[in-house]
Amino acid sequence: MTLKQKTALVVGANGIIGGNLIRYLVELGDWEIVGLSRRGGKTEGKISNIAVDLLDAVDTREKLAHLTDVTHIFYAAYQDRPSWAELVPPNLAMLVNVVNAIEPVAPALQHISLMQGYKVYGAHLGPFKTPARETDANHMPPEFNINQQDFLEARQKGKDWTWSALRPSVVIGFALGNPMNLASVIAVYASMSKELGIPLRFPGKPGAYDSLLEMTDAGLLARATVFIATNRQCGNQAFNINNGDLFRWNEMWPKIATFFDMNVAPPLPMSLNVIMTDKEALWNGMIKKHGLTNTPYTNVSSWGFGDAVFGWNYDFFADGTKLRRAGFHDFVDTEEMFMRVFRDLRDRKIIP
Ligand SMILES: NC(=O)c1ccc[n+]([C@@H]2O[C@H](COP(=O)([O-])OP(=O)(O)OC[C@H]3O[C@@H](n4cnc5c(N)ncnc54)[C@H](OP(=O)(O)O)[C@@H]3O)[C@@H](O)[C@H]2O)c1
Repeated sequence: MTLKQKTALVVGANGIIGGNLIRYLVELGDWEIVGLSRRGGKTEGKISNIAVDLLDAVDTREKLAHLTDVTHIFYAAYQDRPSWAELVPPNLAMLVNVVNAIEPVAPALQHISLMQGYKVYGAHLGPFKTPARETDANHMPPEFNINQQDFLEARQKGKDWTWSALRPSVVIGFALGNPMNLASVIAVYASMSKELGIPLRFPGKPGAYDSLLEMTDAGLLARATVFIATNRQCGNQAFNINNGDLFRWNEMWPKIATFFDMNVAPPLPMSLNVIMTDKEALWNGMIKKHGLTNTPYTNVSSWGFGDAVFGWNYDFFADGTKLRRAGFHDFVDTEEMFMRVFRDLRDRKIIP
């Protein structure tokens, strides 16, 4: 069967990863795009959005039954939970429900792309082997990313479609109202420090200021995702996806302070989740004072995620050469990326 258009089903369309992927697919111009999320969204041009509860198998099957042209599923939905074990059932169920709904009705299905991360390597648990490689052994469960990959691998056997497992580092890009958004954490923390007339202090654990890290630009991730999904030789494999450079906060933090026109002061370990909880009134005051977009405090402040990232007092990077050897040669300068995303937040009047 030859289809004129490729049709992308972006699962988690409002997320930091899904939203940036949709923007890239629109730019490419030769994709029909269907976005799935709980909140839904506008249907315009080549994008249609469906509001669906993917935890509900019946709702998912009913609302997706007409999506017979889907050629590529880009899975980037995420349900947050307080513990690693609790993450497994909902995150596995959503993927299973999507595949159960689409596979029987979409005969031209070519690829299912699964968004994972360095959690596969135990990066969230403690000092893990660096650089992490796609061939590294799994760690002790629970680990929802592994359950999801196991499901896809088993389901693919004997089928024409292929799967891929994508492993970015921390993803940096524009999004609001999502639980893992480091750029917003830094931008809002810096803006509030400035509003209070205090210098910018790194709030992480001792040691975290000096560890070696890498990030993944959301635009680069989108380009890599599409590259992998549309190159048959990349099928049925995992790929690390990172900017291609490394940094330490001790060098980046003063540059961030300069961007915000602030002085930098020595680090002071503190839990943002604790220290920032009483700052909603300050935020609302800043919205009025600086004429900002009316973004609720809960939508800009994924403080728990900030605590996690700034708590990594160990090296945090993976080997990204497998993808480059497969022919994807894009890279992003991490310093330039942070400043671009902060400028974007400023242009959108999210921060002063
Ligand atoms: N963010 C990072 O820095 C990062 C780094 C590495 C790996 N990852 C991985 O990438 C994946 C995606 O993460 P993300 O940060 O992009 O997630 P996110 O910003 O929280 O987005 C999650 C998306 O899933 C949708 N969703 C959640 N529950 C749903 C449900 N029951 N029904 C329908 N849609 C639902 C949300 O819809 P609504 O918007 O309507 O709520 C949202 O669009 C996760 O597996 C995560 O571990 C993330």
